[in-house]
Formats: sequence, C-alpha cells, structure tokens
Amino acid sequence: MPKTVEKQNSLVEEIERLKKERGALIMAHYYQRPEIQKIADCIGDSLALARAAARTDAPVIVMCGVHFMGETAKLLCPGKTVLVPDTDAGCSLADSCPPDDFAAFIKAHPGHTVISYVNTSAAVKALTDIVVTSGNARKIVDSLPEGEKIIFGPDRNLGSYINAVSGRDMVLWPGACHVHQRFSPEKIAALKAAHPEAKVLVHPECPEPVRLMADKIGSTAALLDYARQLPEGSEMIVATESGILVEMERLCPGRKFIPAPPDDSTCGCNECGYMKLNTLEKLRDCLRDMKPAIEIDPDIAEKARRPIDRMLEISDRLGV
Ligand code: 13P
Repeated sequence: MPKTVEKQNSLVEEIERLKKERGALIMAHYYQRPEIQKIADCIGDSLALARAAARTDAPVIVMCGVHFMGETAKLLCPGKTVLVPDTDAGCSLADSCPPDDFAAFIKAHPGHTVISYVNTSAAVKALTDIVVTSGNARKIVDSLPEGEKIIFGPDRNLGSYINAVSGRDMVLWPGACHVHQRFSPEKIAALKAAHPEAKVLVHPECPEPVRLMADKIGSTAALLDYARQLPEGSEMIVATESGILVEMERLCPGRKFIPAPPDDSTCGCNECGYMKLNTLEKLRDCLRDMKPAIEIDPDIAEKARRPIDRMLEISDRLGV
C-alpha cells in the first residue's frame, strides 16, 4: 500500500477512536476536502449545518468549515464544546463587514430591518434582526411585508439577486466572497460552447453576469438537489466552490460535472483557500487536544443568537 494511503488510513482510525471517546459529532461543509467530507457524520450547506447543530445531543461538535460556521454552532449550543480544526479558516465575505462599520451603516439607515447573511461574525449578527443563508434568504425576504425597509449585508451579489427576483429595493452592504466573485462569464461561455447541452448551476454569491447564464441558481444543497434530478448522461457546469463536486459525483453517477473556472488562473477550478485549510491531521489534533474551541463574548452571544433563532423559526414555518 502506498505510504500516503497508509498514513491517511491510520489518521482516519485515530479520528474515529477519538470521536467515540469524546462523544463528538463531526460536521463538514460541502466545500471541505474530500477526505474530510468522507469522515464527517453530517455534511451540508450552511443552513443544514446550523439545523444539525441546533438538534444534536453530542457534547462536542467539530465544525469543519470556516470560522463563522463554528460560531453559529456555538451560538446555537452554548453549553457544548465547539471545536474547529484551524482558527485561521476565515471567510472573505465575513471579513468584508467589520462590525463597527456595519453599525454606522445601520445608523445611517434608520427604520430598516437588518438582514444578515450567515457568513458574518457573531458581532455583526448581534446587530442583526434576521440571519439568512443562501438556502432560505429569498423566501425569508419574501415573507416580510411589502414595503418593509431592509438593509441586507454583507453579500452585495446575493442581495442584488434577491432584489431582482423579489422586486425589493433592499439597501446593500458592498461585500463579496472572493471565490464567487472570481468566476469568469467568458470562460463559462467558452465551456458552454464546447458543451452546448450542459446546464449551468450557479451559487447566488456570484455576480450578475454569471447569474444571468444560469439554468439554476441556488445554495450548494439546492444545486445538489437539481443535479440529482437531471437524467444520467447530463452535463453540468458548476459555478461554486469546487468542493461541491465531491458530493455531486458521489450522489449523481453517470452525470458529468465541469467546474467553472476563475478569471485569473489557468487552473480549471475555483477553490476557497480558507475552506481547504482544514486537514485530517488538524481534525485529529483538535479532537485529541480539545482545542481550538470557539469562545464568544457572552453579551455578543446573547444578542447574536436571537436573529439565528428567528431565521430557524421562520424557515421552519415556511418549510425551507
Ligand atoms: P451555502 O452553504 O448556503 O450554499 O453557502 C455557501 C457559502 O457561502 C459558504 O461560505
């Protein structure tokens, strides 16, 4: 057996043993490395991970994703230990919205309901009325009374998508995800010319020129559902972080998935370097050492939990 496979197998065994000893639940976002998705007890989009965190009885959660996902789990489970393999796994979108600047933005727009994407720090959530994910944002906004004044942050692309489909005029914070912002409409058009039958699947964090090329716009989970419904032999060009292809290929045999390329690279796929910081070694280490654990200032945590609870309530009521 090659040495790398042997090493990976022994890490997997160690993680399984430590997981049992700690009573831990390992969660992973679809953008994680294949070996991490494989070992996780639960994989999903941001909404599914938040729901699973809210439901679990496990005393320890390991969140393999980026920092805000660990924070969301901790806000929902303050009594549990929430571990993350690497605290440097941040989020460019969350970083594009510093809490003090967002507070000033809110002050400059009095009388607005504040909706924040889940890709935000706990401090920004503490300034928020309702949190949303890409899986429920559109329906939650639609459920608010017509004419309600809304601030939407921090993703201007998701916000402009919702404005376009709902006819709203939400005030948008000018943030973006560095991965989704980079997709190239020209390169997608070239792929489409080479694969004319291919459907184009696009995450709503992409800019409008890319969204306009889409056959389906949705969260990672929604794109996966769409892919599962297409018949065998279908081809799909996928404009979101390429980690989603692991689960698409696993669940949709007989279909061809083509990652949409970024504009500034000769490499064919678009990866989030933060998501890929998590490795099996770091996962083993955090279970062994019970650190790094997420800690949140109690005052911020109390305020930040409310808009997440509100999201889960509305989302359950709307069935999204
Ligand atoms: P979803 O998990 O809601 O598809 O969003 C992806 C994402 O932006 C993760 O940072």
